[in-house]
Amino acid sequence: MSRRPFVAGNWKMNYVPSEAATVAAEFAAKITPTANVDVAICPTYTSLAGVCSALRGSKIHAGAQNVFWADSGAFTGFISAPMIKDLGATHCIVGHSETRGKFGKLETPESTVPFFAETDETINLKIRALIKHGLVPILCVGETLAEREAGQTDAVIQGQLKGGLDGISESDLANLIVAYEPVWAIGTGKTCDTPEAERVCGMVRQTLASLVSAGFAEGVRVLYGGSVKPDNAAELFSQPNIDGGLVGGASLKADDFAKVVAGA
Ligand code: PGA
Repeated sequence: MSRRPFVAGNWKMNYVPSEAATVAAEFAAKITPTANVDVAICPTYTSLAGVCSALRGSKIHAGAQNVFWADSGAFTGFISAPMIKDLGATHCIVGHSETRGKFGKLETPESTVPFFAETDETINLKIRALIKHGLVPILCVGETLAEREAGQTDAVIQGQLKGGLDGISESDLANLIVAYEPVWAIGTGKTCDTPEAERVCGMVRQTLASLVSAGFAEGVRVLYGGSVKPDNAAELFSQPNIDGGLVGGASLKADDFAKVVAGA
């Protein structure tokens, strides 16, 4: 089965809303997703409305970077799936390592602070909320450097997939996208080497075959993320188990991102 590649830009906490709308308009002008690749930009919440209107009429989708699982209620400071959807967004990142329980990216005392306290259980609730409202979840999984050095890479990711998807039916998971993001490769310039990125993405697919079904695993899109750049995108995305990328730094400028998209 041939899977259509997907490239998503994760803008993280960058751009004030007026800048974001201008940059998104530039993306819409420079990036014409062909019939062969899907593209999305995920700005911060405050920029989502402006980015959605700037992208209207283009083929680029807009997504959020996180979501809270209840539809509404007494949850000060949180944003629900219906709020994201109402703006015209179609996708949402879930379980990024920068929102999981440990701020694993930083090898500093801060890395032990349960910053956003996200667990596989809360990630599961978020995925369910997105599915309920017809939004596409982009589930991030990946190991820290300490976990990799301890030989736990595969076990950690298998646990994240099992916990994140627990109890959700195969038909509900139809639109799910999974992104393998080794925590040590995010924003560090250290890309996971291509054979290892391919191996882990293949392992993700095998794990999904046993958790969901062989047919599901064959069709699900598995992305690689972590220091994807214009000069390494084509090689990474040409691997049989890598169906595109989740791109941070290189998604902030239209020229760079257009080159990454061209790599798919
Ligand atoms: P990066 O971030 O491309 O800047 O490494 C990727 C991500 O965190 O999604």
